[in-house]
Amino acid sequence: MRGAAYVNGTIGPLETAAIPVLDHGFMYGEGVYEVLRTYSGEPFLYDQHVARLRRSAAAIHLALPFDDETLRSWVDRTSAAAGLEGDTYIRILTTRGVGDLTYDVRATPVASIVIVVKPQPAPDPRLRNEGIAVALVPILRNHPGSVNPMIKSNNLLNNALAMQEAQRRGAEEALMCNYRGELAECSQSNLFLIRDGVALTPPSTAGLLKGITRAFLFQVGQEVGVKVEEATLMPADLDIADEVFITSTTREISPVVRIDGRVIGSGRPGELTLRLWDAYHRRALEMTSLAGTARKTAQGLGTGDWGLGDSTLLTGKRPPDS
Ligand code: PDD
Repeated sequence: MRGAAYVNGTIGPLETAAIPVLDHGFMYGEGVYEVLRTYSGEPFLYDQHVARLRRSAAAIHLALPFDDETLRSWVDRTSAAAGLEGDTYIRILTTRGVGDLTYDVRATPVASIVIVVKPQPAPDPRLRNEGIAVALVPILRNHPGSVNPMIKSNNLLNNALAMQEAQRRGAEEALMCNYRGELAECSQSNLFLIRDGVALTPPSTAGLLKGITRAFLFQVGQEVGVKVEEATLMPADLDIADEVFITSTTREISPVVRIDGRVIGSGRPGELTLRLWDAYHRRALEMTSLAGTARKTAQGLGTGDWGLGDSTLLTGKRPPDS
């Protein structure tokens, strides 16, 4: 696996990156994370992802040990060390830290931080052109009164079990209901269905992760004249949907053409879904290109330079402000 990882102050190759077994992220799944990606080499919606990371951390009473500038500096250094051509997948994790085996937080005074940077391949054109099959699985999305799906938690057993069930059923994503029987979200993405020209998505009260892509889609919809609204949706709503799609950072917008035995619309990606897909891509490229230019100008650099010197792996060096 090509890429680099930052682990508690050290950047090295991703393949050999390791954390101590006494890290409570490993032992208890106590931690939170974010996944973002670059377009044209520039992280997309970076500030929104970091804000959600801080909200997730606060929800488990974990203080992120870095300010925004320091975190960004490490993300940039890890990216530079990865030295990858093309776009990258960036995963930022923070856990309760390393300590004796007790739930007492006094055992883990220092949170762990991990940043993973690896290649983000361009989406398979099949996804846009043919769409995907999704399975509505019997596993319920976590009850918000238990591990709230609003927290982007490292504890992903609910998601992994749902996805593995979907894969056994020949599908590429798992759709889950909440404890009330309403549609909630998928194992790694948010759900939208289009009915009478309006894109509907379950409200956050359904118990779901408020996706950054989901939020962005409200803006994109406005730009291309597609109304996007929250609505409580039931499995029966899938039977009368004109179009269905899912959204996530890595899957962007993926048209759904089949859900178990149901064929959605004509069985091909829908017209409004594709209009949203095109607008999403146009905006993502525009925004990252603008952000890249602004950043390089602020750093007094020409284009095509990370501004971080060499791209060799850095070991144990902290930026001056950390
Ligand atoms: N998954 N719901 C769940 C349960 C998710 O894990 C994700 C993201 C989303 C979409 O959120 P966003 O648009 O902010 O990516 C919804 C990421 C990509 C992952 O875990 O790999």
